[in-house]
Amino acid sequence: MKKIGIMTTGGDCSGLNTVINRLVLGATNRGWKVCGIVDGTDGLCAQPADAVALTLDSIPIECARLAGSFLHNGNACKMNFETAAKAGKLAQFNKILKKSLAALNLDALVLVGGNGSFSLAWLNREIYGDLSLVCIPKTIDMDIPLTDKTIGFDTAVNELTHYCDQLLLTARSHHRWFIVQTMGRECGRLALNAGVAVGADAIIIPEIKFNVDDLVAHIKNVGRDYGIIMVSEGITLRGHSGRPADMIARKLTASGIANRTAFPEYLQRAGDTSAGDRILAAKMATAALDAIENRETYVMTALRGNECITVPLSEFYAAGDQSADPNIPEICTSNAYVEPDDPLLDVANQMNIYIGQTR
Ligand code: F6P
Repeated sequence: MKKIGIMTTGGDCSGLNTVINRLVLGATNRGWKVCGIVDGTDGLCAQPADAVALTLDSIPIECARLAGSFLHNGNACKMNFETAAKAGKLAQFNKILKKSLAALNLDALVLVGGNGSFSLAWLNREIYGDLSLVCIPKTIDMDIPLTDKTIGFDTAVNELTHYCDQLLLTARSHHRWFIVQTMGRECGRLALNAGVAVGADAIIIPEIKFNVDDLVAHIKNVGRDYGIIMVSEGITLRGHSGRPADMIARKLTASGIANRTAFPEYLQRAGDTSAGDRILAAKMATAALDAIENRETYVMTALRGNECITVPLSEFYAAGDQSADPNIPEICTSNAYVEPDDPLLDVANQMNIYIGQTR
C-alpha cells in the first residue's frame, strides 16, 4: 500500500481545500494512505514532523469549497529556506527536512505551492531522495510558467470583480473614480483579467509602460465622471513613493479628478472557491495521482487547453524569468508575466481601456 503526503506552502488562496479533498478521495479509491503535513516546511522542521492522517472525513465535501488551507501554509516568522540561506544554515535546514521526510516513510509527496516553493524544491531537490515529488500550482498571481491556469486565480478574479461591481455604484452616486490596487506581485495577470471583467477604464500593470499624463487625458475623455482604475501592486512611478494606488490618486487629484483609493487586500485570496477553481483542483489532483502511479518525480501538473499534463520541474525552472533576492543570490525564483502578445491586451485596447504603451 502506498503512502502519500500532502503539504500546502506559500501564500494561501481559495481552492486549497478542494485540492486536498480530491487528492484524499482519489488516493483512498486507490487504496493508498494519506498523511497531511501541517504548516508546510514549518511542520516538516518540527521533530517529529507535524503530520496528521487524512481520511475522507478530514475535509468533508461541504467544507472543501472554503478558502484557506485546513493544513495551514506556515508561519513567516519560523525558519524557512530563505532565512536559513541568509543565515548560512541552508545545509543544516535541508538535513532536517530530509530526516523528517525519511521518518514519515512516504512513497510520494504532493506539494501544493507557488513558483517560490517549486523553485526552492527544485534547487534543493536532494531533500526528497527516492520520493516521488509532484507539485500542484496554486496562486492568485498566476505567475507560474508552463501552465495556463493556477488554482486560486479564477476565484481571485471573481472576488475582485464583485468588489469593483459594488464600488461602481457608490462611485456613480458621488461622481468619483475608484483606484483599486490589486495584488499580484510583479505579475499583472490578476489586474488585467479582473479589469477586463469589470469594464475598468484603465488597467496599469508592471509589464507595460504607462504615461500618467496619457492616463489623466484618457480618464477626462471617457465621457463619464466615475469608474474604476485598476492598478497592480507591482507598478512604479518615477519620482514617487508610497502605495501605487496612492501615487496615481495624487496625480488624478492634481488634475481635478475626484477620486478615492480602495484596497481589497487579502479578500482576493479568500472567498468561496469558484466552480472553475474546483474543476481545476479536481483535474490537477487526478493528474498528480496518475503521475504518482506512473512513478514520475520532480514534476508539476499543468493545464494546457482543457487537458492536465505533467511537466518536469527542470523545465518549469528554465522556462521563467529568474529573479533573486539580492541577499541570497543562490536562490532564484522562476516567474511568468503578462506577455506582450497576450490576447487580452488587444481585447482591453478594443474596449477603450487605457493600458499603457502596448501599440
Ligand atoms: O503571492 C500571493 C500574494 O497574495 C501576492 O499577491 C501578495 O503580494 C503577497 O502574496 C502577500 O504576501 P503576504 O501574505 O506575505 O502578505
